[in-house]
Amino acid sequence: MHFELTEEHKMIRDAARDFARAELLSGVIERDEHQKFPADQVRQMGELGFLGMMVSPEYGGSGMDTISYVLAMEEISKIDASASVAMSVNNSLVCWGLEKYGTEEQKQKYLVPLAKGEILGAFCLSEPEAGSDATSQSTTAVDKGDHYLLNGTKNWITNGNSASVYLVIAQTDVAKGHRGINCLIVEKGMPGFVVGNKENKMGIRGSDTHSLLFTDVKVPKENRVGEDGFGFKFAMKTLSGGRIGIASQALGIASGALELATKYSQERKTFGKLICEHQAIAFKLADMATRVEAARLLVLKSAWLKDQGLPFDKESAMAKMYASEVAMWVTTEAVQIHGGYGFVKEFHVERLMRDAKITQIYEGTSEIQRIVISRAHLNENPVV
Ligand code: CAA
Repeated sequence: MHFELTEEHKMIRDAARDFARAELLSGVIERDEHQKFPADQVRQMGELGFLGMMVSPEYGGSGMDTISYVLAMEEISKIDASASVAMSVNNSLVCWGLEKYGTEEQKQKYLVPLAKGEILGAFCLSEPEAGSDATSQSTTAVDKGDHYLLNGTKNWITNGNSASVYLVIAQTDVAKGHRGINCLIVEKGMPGFVVGNKENKMGIRGSDTHSLLFTDVKVPKENRVGEDGFGFKFAMKTLSGGRIGIASQALGIASGALELATKYSQERKTFGKLICEHQAIAFKLADMATRVEAARLLVLKSAWLKDQGLPFDKESAMAKMYASEVAMWVTTEAVQIHGGYGFVKEFHVERLMRDAKITQIYEGTSEIQRIVISRAHLNENPVV
């Protein structure tokens, strides 16, 4: 058992921290207010290698491990969770699946520019009537010989307008249930593909979340990822890794709020002393710090398991469930410690509290994580 980060890990964490403070902090309140996607900053993140962190250099990536990825995600999420969700989706939900299951042609055409951060990707599973119940896809991809004819609507798609490449999950053969689902690579600009409304959200307001509409979009057969019928398993496997990314986003939101609350408690005086010297506040900080550390251990463990090539579905669900609940709780406490200042935008914690909420919802709600965890736990402990 060894809990120390390597020098390389520390360098990556510090580089992400420096970038976030220098490039993301100054405009984050305004972007949140006006729902402005941090396009320039995300482009810079691509140049620094943060958008294809785990992709092999052969395909334009940084060739780093998952631990490096979660360390960078935590630092960027402390400052701007809208930028970090774009990073998480590109890395975990788009690049990972293309590298693992894509053909050589798909990798050259799509993965290389995605991993270099020259373009962004989106992962399109959720539908108006299929969020948690992901097998109930109404988007159809009818087999027409050399192409699929794609029809349907996707909802709440991260990078919805800023992406150039979309991994779209669709039903080809209803009779086969989840084994009749495919994943297709759709390019922006394909006739019949329209980016729909932008969502006006509670949190991560700088993130670019849209509905997508597909009407008779002809998608060439060579754009299917994996074998015919592999789409649902592709989505599940991709989401298992994606949950490590969202868990590290939640961790960053929580640890960012803890840093702000700690600093504020060491500056603000009431009743003749610093508020951190009041036990009411000191005990809050103790609980916040403990939960943040526990979340960090779960996040790092799931990343480590993935890097070792060991099963990590249960652990990534645990990390995501726990870190997102910690993020909600810690940010709420951070607002409370700030008192009235916590309720206004300049102090950042109210935004972190709003941003925390989505981490309990996307890439599987906390309830879905509990389904994944309990099934795995009961499989490991069968009734005798
Ligand atoms: N890896 C590989 N295969 C898996 C798997 C995994 N992690 N999880 C399930 N499967 C397989 C099962 O083995 C099964 O295959 P077989 O029948 O061949 O054995 C098949 O998939 C169906 O599995 P289940 O019977 O377990 O399916 P279910 O209907 O009970 O659903 C679920 C399981 C866990 C609830 C799943 O539907 C789920 O994860 N739902 C949540 C979806 C989700 O996370 N949506 C978020 C959208 S993406 C997003 O938010 C991105 C963004 O923009 C930020």
